[in-house]
Amino acid sequence: MCGIIGRVGSGDAIETLLTGLENLEYRGYDSAGVAVQNGSGIAVQKRSGKVEELKASIDDRPLEGEVGIGHTRWSTHGPPTDENAHPHTDGTEDVAVVHNGIIENYAELKSWLRDRGHAFTSDTDTEVIPHLVQYYLDEGFPNETAFRRAIDDLEGSYAVTAMFSGEHVLYAARQGSPLVVGMEDGEYFLASDVPAFLEYTETVVYLEDGDVVIVDEDGVEFTDLEGNPVSRNPETVEWDPEQAGKGEYDHFMHKEIHEQPTALAQAIEGRIDHGSGRIALEDFEPGTFEGIESVQLVACGTSYHAALYGSLALNAAGIRATALLANEYSVSAPPVDDDTLVIAVSQSGETADTLNALRQARASGARTLTLTNVVGSTAAREADDALFIRAGPEIGVAATKTFSSQAVMLLLLAQRLADDVRGEPHADLDSLLPELAAMPDRIDAILEASTADRVARRYADSESYFFIGRGLGFPVALEGALKFKEITYEHAEGFASGELKHGPLALVTPETPVFAIFTGEEDEKTLKNAEEAQTRGAPVVAVCPEDHRAVAVADDHLRIPETDADLAGLLANVQLQLLSYHAADLLDRPIDKPRNLAKSVTVE
Ligand code: F6R
Repeated sequence: MCGIIGRVGSGDAIETLLTGLENLEYRGYDSAGVAVQNGSGIAVQKRSGKVEELKASIDDRPLEGEVGIGHTRWSTHGPPTDENAHPHTDGTEDVAVVHNGIIENYAELKSWLRDRGHAFTSDTDTEVIPHLVQYYLDEGFPNETAFRRAIDDLEGSYAVTAMFSGEHVLYAARQGSPLVVGMEDGEYFLASDVPAFLEYTETVVYLEDGDVVIVDEDGVEFTDLEGNPVSRNPETVEWDPEQAGKGEYDHFMHKEIHEQPTALAQAIEGRIDHGSGRIALEDFEPGTFEGIESVQLVACGTSYHAALYGSLALNAAGIRATALLANEYSVSAPPVDDDTLVIAVSQSGETADTLNALRQARASGARTLTLTNVVGSTAAREADDALFIRAGPEIGVAATKTFSSQAVMLLLLAQRLADDVRGEPHADLDSLLPELAAMPDRIDAILEASTADRVARRYADSESYFFIGRGLGFPVALEGALKFKEITYEHAEGFASGELKHGPLALVTPETPVFAIFTGEEDEKTLKNAEEAQTRGAPVVAVCPEDHRAVAVADDHLRIPETDADLAGLLANVQLQLLSYHAADLLDRPIDKPRNLAKSVTVE
């Protein structure tokens, strides 16, 4: 997830581009850059760090130009360095490009271009785009055709904006990543999202997949890839620019819950080999995990719950795995050797407890891998390998979309490990892979029809909230309770369903609703445990599919679509995220910044 801005008009574009980038910084903030047309061609300034740092560098070395493009980056390929920041050129500065998305066939394109004499200076997938354009320019095609041909060569998702030396024109294309045009008399904008230019115009056109637009001072031409005109209608947006980073949502947490379909699609993209029906995870060379005999996953908080989910998936795949609290690792680490893989699971990659555990594991001779959202984070840099969940920036302190993406990546990793270690994945991938691919749609269905707000209202005056689950439902129960207490400040606990009768049942009263998660793993036992609480007066809310037998027994129902048992808990988790969100909203809590907590805990 990155932010793009482009501007054509009269007068200097720099301030507009920098303001746009600041307004888009919620989409990525690890590097930023701009390119403008000045009298002698295209001038680029870019650097790692926040937009603020780019501004300081432009203050030192001023830039001017009426046409320009800018980018704020959230790294997916290559760390946040000056070289990897956008805009990218092919070195000749005939063309500059900014991109949001993932070019799946970039490795193939890069080697094809290298064979034709092109030299690359970054680790990004984006850099192939200006090189492709230049290749077609060298073949004698005019700018527009060279741009269209280059776009036609790309596979994956992209929003691309390009400008050519000597022209007051911007070219843009959209496929799977958002792009919107802003229009004001004589001034036109292209951006990933409306907040980028909301200070200048409220008239916008949202591009659709397959659209290619050409923008100059006289207007915008909307076409398809072949150049056939397409009709797109302008709309007026009425947003408070202050509020705009959150889009239509009141809180980042609510927005991030709704971003899960996109986040999961990005996590999976290019990582499943549909041809062979196997988990490709090309992030690692074939055989990377050969010889691994056991796995330890170290993490804290929500990431620990994802780690627990992952450990269950690994064990089910025949790989011995244990999830451990990173903050306990220094006093309770099981033995490791060079056949042990220690996986640090951390959204931020900066959590001190997790870094300590990772360092201890390395020092003890284990192989290490970091699963994180932040390319270039300390944990990603210090581990032997890193795997990125590509969820995009998460601003709300309560982790939501990153949990889902971590859990799904660990499911993929479990199969890849089984493949490397034993020569074949464990799961029935014929059924798991289509279900994985359907996850974004299934989550969309939940988001559209959830009754979590009504359930939150009904149980608003309760004393305590209990969450129970079995198997993969257990980490989800823990996560449901953590989310609930974290943002509502109400007491909540998660238990393995079978544990209820070993103590917690003493707490159960009519004032303690029990949320029971059904994943398809021994559901009859979970239902029995829920009924034991119900008999003692507790209302039971079943989180399960519509035609599940728990629905008839329970007092309330949070519905999830039918899916594979490996994934059902993640759907239940979305309902529980919404439940916590609505309960906290009713209590008027500061949802995005709960008291006493921080997004990244860099102290022990
Ligand atoms: C809860 C939450 C925290 C983090 C924990 C670890 O919503 O976000 O429990 O999960 O502090 O953070 P990371 O994943 O950055 O290591």
